[in-house]
Amino acid sequence: MQIDILTLFPEIALAPLSESIISRARQAGIVDIRAHNLRDWAKDKHRRTDDYLCGGGQGMLMLPGPLFDAIGELRKEDTKVILMTPQGKVFKQAVAAELSSDTHLLIVCGHYEGVDHRVIEELIDLELSIGDYVLTNGAIAAAVVTDSIVRLLPGALGDERSPEEESFSDPNLLEAPAYTKPADFRGLKVPDVLLSGHHAKIAEWKKQKALERTRANRPDLLD
Ligand code: ADE
Repeated sequence: MQIDILTLFPEIALAPLSESIISRARQAGIVDIRAHNLRDWAKDKHRRTDDYLCGGGQGMLMLPGPLFDAIGELRKEDTKVILMTPQGKVFKQAVAAELSSDTHLLIVCGHYEGVDHRVIEELIDLELSIGDYVLTNGAIAAAVVTDSIVRLLPGALGDERSPEEESFSDPNLLEAPAYTKPADFRGLKVPDVLLSGHHAKIAEWKKQKALERTRANRPDLLD
């Protein structure tokens, strides 16, 4: 898989993707991740990529020119072009799973008040938001989306089973509480059932606790 990130802040996008599991996946050739500076497609001598809003309004908007040129150059036949924006469809595990079977993603990062709408109408296949809050720039959101997709690629996680057992996979419940050693930490005990070796009882306990946790923290998942 290839993922290109188009942003005014390539270092912000790449920093979280340069360590640990994602870094190893890149080294192993499971994914090819590149970040491109949108300013490289700016035309004027100030390398300008933004301007005032037509019809008034606060802040600045990203110009269509550099975005049309950059996307035109980076896009291939099989590319899905994604725009990171708080106005997008909310990114969920199911969306990550769907995107993990694409061959090429071009993730465009919004900045300032967003991008000229003609870019969205003409060039964007999917607008994505990582949640109902506003970040200073889309590069952070692009790194989040990239991380969650890459870890689903075959071979990216050492343990092939782990994506299936975690929260937001099927069933739609949060994970049960988990414990490691020691069994007694300063008088705080690991629940007996987890030390019992009784697999059916452990599975039942985990299901019950997952349900309790989901009810407390994410009742919306049970609707
Ligand atoms: N850019 C700013 N805020 C964002 C968000 N919540 N999701 C995606 N891109 C963004």
